[in-house]
Amino acid sequence: MRVTIFGTGYVGLVTGACLAEAGNHVLCVDIDAAKIERLKRGEIPIYEPGLEAIVERTGEAGRLRFTTDVAEGVAHGLFQFIAVGTPADEDGSADLSYVLEAARSIARNMTEYRIIVDKSTVPVGTADRVKAAMRAVLEERGVDVQFDVVSNPEFLKEGAAVEDFMKPERVVIGVDDPRTAELLRTLYEPFNRNRDRVIVMDPRSAELTKYAANAMLAARITLMNELANLAERVGADIEHVRTGIGSDPRIGYSFIYPGCGYGGSCFPKDVKALVAASKEAGYSADMLRAVELVNSRQKHVLSDKIKRHFGGALAGKTIAVWGLSFKPNTDDMREASSRVLIEDLWAAGCNVRAYDPVALTEARRLYGERDNLVLCRTADEALAGADGLAIVTEWREFRSPDFDAIKAKLRTPVIFDGRNLYDPSLLRRMGFRYFAIGRGDSLRP
Ligand SMILES: NC(=O)c1ccc[n+]([C@@H]2O[C@H](COP(=O)([O-])OP(=O)(O)OC[C@H]3O[C@@H](n4cnc5c(N)ncnc54)[C@H](O)[C@@H]3O)[C@@H](O)[C@H]2O)c1
Repeated sequence: MRVTIFGTGYVGLVTGACLAEAGNHVLCVDIDAAKIERLKRGEIPIYEPGLEAIVERTGEAGRLRFTTDVAEGVAHGLFQFIAVGTPADEDGSADLSYVLEAARSIARNMTEYRIIVDKSTVPVGTADRVKAAMRAVLEERGVDVQFDVVSNPEFLKEGAAVEDFMKPERVVIGVDDPRTAELLRTLYEPFNRNRDRVIVMDPRSAELTKYAANAMLAARITLMNELANLAERVGADIEHVRTGIGSDPRIGYSFIYPGCGYGGSCFPKDVKALVAASKEAGYSADMLRAVELVNSRQKHVLSDKIKRHFGGALAGKTIAVWGLSFKPNTDDMREASSRVLIEDLWAAGCNVRAYDPVALTEARRLYGERDNLVLCRTADEALAGADGLAIVTEWREFRSPDFDAIKAKLRTPVIFDGRNLYDPSLLRRMGFRYFAIGRGDSLRP
C-alpha cells in the first residue's frame, strides 16, 4: 500500500519505517528541511533502538523516502497519516495548530479520495475539527474530493518504539465508516498475525482512549510516589510495600516503581491537556490535577534531599548526575526530571558534572556551553571530584557499578538515588550515605 506520513518525529519516523518494513511504500513529509536532509543522507535524528537498521534497509529497497514537498506527499498515499506534534498550549490544552495545518495542507493538494489518519495525540472532537478544516479548504478551492478521517492513536513507548509498533498490544481505530475500518485493518494486518489486536470504535472514544491510557499510567506512578513520600516519614520501606501490593493481581507489578517523577513528551502534556479538556467540557478533573501537582513536586525530591544533606550549603559544591534522558533507551529530555534537578542545583550555586549514555548531544543543544555544567563521556568521568552522586535515569549500566571506584572518586561517599537501584544495607556497609526514594532515610520525625 502507499502511505504518506506528515511529521517525522518519534512517532512519524517509527510508523513510516515499520510500515515500509512490512512492504508498503512510504513517503515521509516534514516541514523541517534540515531534518529531511539528514534523513535523506541516512542520518537518524533520534535515538531509538533498532530504528536505524530498518530505515537503512527500507531506504535502500526504495520503500521509504523523505520529502518536504507536500504536493508530492498528498499525491503519493491513499493513507495520509498525521503524526505532527501536539504540544501544550499556554493554558495546558493541546495545541492543535500543527495538526490542523497538516490537514489543511493535504486538502490544498488533494485531487482524489484520501484517508486521513490522525496518529497524533489529540483531544476528543479533533477528527471532526480536521474534517471541518479540510472541507473549508476544499470549498474554497471549489472542488468536491471525498475523504475520510480516522483516529488511530499511537501507544508506542520511546526506547522500545520499534518493538511496540511491530508487536502492538492493541491497534485502536476510531472510525464511523466500516469500509474505512477494513482498509486500516488491512494496513495493520502484518502486525496483527498471532491474534487480533485491532479494536474498532467511534473516533471520539479512540481519541479519549489515548489520554485515558496515559492518565492511568501517570496516576499509578504518582500514587506510588505519594506512598513513597509517606513511607519515608513513617519509617517504612516503599520497596517492601511495592512487592507487597504488586503481588495482588488486581494491582500487578507494572508501573508501580517509585522515583523522582515522570517526564517525557507525553505524560506531562497529556495529563495537562485532559485537565484542560475536562474544564472546557464543564467538569473539574480534580484527581488529574492532583496527579500533575504531586508529580511536579516529586521532581524536586532529589534536590531537596541534596540540600538537606549538605545543610543547605550547596554554593560551590559539585554534584555528579547520572542519567539525563527522561527514561532509559532514549535521548529525549522533554520534561525530564534531570532538568528540574540540574536547574535546582544551579539555583543553589552548585556545579554539575553529568553523564548519559545517549542524551549528551541533546543536553548540549538544550543548555549550550556553560561554566556550571560539564558533560562527561563516561559515568566515571562525571564522578571525578564531585561532592556526591545523583542518579536520575535507570540506565542498565548504572545498575551494578563498581562501588569502590565510586567511593574513591567522590569527595564524600554519598549517593542520592532517584530510581531505587541499590540495596541500602549493602551501600551503608560499604560506607556510603545512601538516600533513595521512600526507603526510610532521613525524614522520620
Ligand atoms: N513520542 C512519543 O513517545 C509518543 C507516543 C505516542 C503518541 N505521541 C504523540 O504523537 C505526536 C507526535 O509526537 P512526536 O514525539 O513524534 O513529535 P516530534 O516533535 O518528535 O515530531 C513532530 C514532527 O512533526 C513535524 N511537523 C510539524 N508540522 C508539520 C506539518 N504541517 N507537516 C509536516 N510535518 C510537520 C515537525 O517538524 C516534527 O519533525 C504527538 O501528538 C504526541 O503526543 C508521541
